[in-house]
Amino acid sequence: MARDYLDSALEWLNDYTGDNKNLLAIGGAGAVLLLGSIYILPNGKDRHRLTGGGIKADRVKQEFNDYADAYGKEAGAGITDRTKTGQLVDTFYNLVTDIYEWGWGLSFHFSPRLPGKSWAASEAAHESRLAAILQLLPGKKCLDVGCGVGGPMRTIASTSGAEVTGITINQYQVQRAEHHNKKMGVQELCKPVQGDFLKMPFKDNSFDAAYAIEATCHAAKLEEVYGEIQRVLKPGGLFASYEWVATKHYDENNPEHVKIIDEINFGNGLPEMRTYKQAEEAGKIAGLELVMSIDIATASSVAGPWYNRLGWLMKSHIITFNSTMVWILARLHLAPAGMEDVHTMLVRVAKSLCDGGSTGVFSPMHLLVFKKPASPGKDQVANHVSA
Ligand SMILES: C[S@@+](CC[C@H](N)C(=O)[O-])C[C@H]1O[C@@H](n2cnc3c(N)ncnc32)[C@H](O)[C@@H]1O
Ligand SMILES: *[C@@H]1O[C@H](CO)[C@@H](O)[C@H](O)[C@H]1NC(C)=O
Repeated sequence: MARDYLDSALEWLNDYTGDNKNLLAIGGAGAVLLLGSIYILPNGKDRHRLTGGGIKADRVKQEFNDYADAYGKEAGAGITDRTKTGQLVDTFYNLVTDIYEWGWGLSFHFSPRLPGKSWAASEAAHESRLAAILQLLPGKKCLDVGCGVGGPMRTIASTSGAEVTGITINQYQVQRAEHHNKKMGVQELCKPVQGDFLKMPFKDNSFDAAYAIEATCHAAKLEEVYGEIQRVLKPGGLFASYEWVATKHYDENNPEHVKIIDEINFGNGLPEMRTYKQAEEAGKIAGLELVMSIDIATASSVAGPWYNRLGWLMKSHIITFNSTMVWILARLHLAPAGMEDVHTMLVRVAKSLCDGGSTGVFSPMHLLVFKKPASPGKDQVANHVSA
């Protein structure tokens, strides 16, 4: 495969003769070196490819443009036609999944940095916290709402011994998750399925517990996805979510705050941003009892900020360097045309996310824990922890 690509790249170069030859030769050599780092050098046994996921290469640019056009230009607009949210989110993940895997890893979320620990270890701890909160044990059945390519599901199943079913709207992510699950030998406990979390293909009362990591933020209406989770949970079952929210420091009358949140919405496939209060409320509307509400981004005074991982990437210029690489790949037809636009969007939003984090107006990890009432009609318990 990589050889075929290279051959066609060399052919492409050979088509050019004349005055530009030397320049092209240097550029070509540089390009081959750059390509080498993703196309030739294996990463483990995997080779990174930048594809449009389930979108055919020749449709990527158009799909990206349609995605971009779906966001309103006025401050605070978000996705203008909210009925298209699911479809746009699916497109978004077709476009970004390979870039996320390449540049970030297999867990598509943030985590605070634990002192003395790597980002990978900090990420796993952030995932395991949910297994502990949900009291997962061998034999329990747990639902991962918006499972991505399964990074968290693999940590949570292997740390707890529970069976984890993941749902994602994006078929390409199911394929990737299955690939990684097989490679890591966890298929027995990890089952990714394609489906819309607003209409889940699961029976009522079928899971002991559920969690969502930076995923329910994609729902057009938060109470609707919470309602579906409420339906499939067994009575007494717990649901924990790391929710993307505007924090108590967010001021809707501050244009700078609104701008940061608009940029975050656009670069991440969100219809709108909810405040943490609205998220708490959505759970209650869905018939869930609030057990815990705390912003993990600021909960520990000794953990490092989640956005430092992005800040570091930007300071090291790796992201800009890789942007150039994607641009060259697209020119050489080794990546779909339009992929460079997708990459640019992600580089831009990295800055907005850092701004959201450093100003404190945004958190990608407001932890909400809800409980499905043990028996219908029972009085709602109000003894929750708030922060
Ligand atoms: C930021 S990713 C997080 C993935 C995963 N939780 C992780 O941490 O690696 C958000 C996920 O939510 C999923 N998602 C968004 N809207 C969805 C919907 N309507 N139905 C099912 N999954 C959805 C996306 O497909 C994606 O897998
Ligand atoms: C940049 O490219 C290198 C080489 O392919 C890759 O290992 C790294 O993960 C990429 N980083 C980002 C942030 O894209």
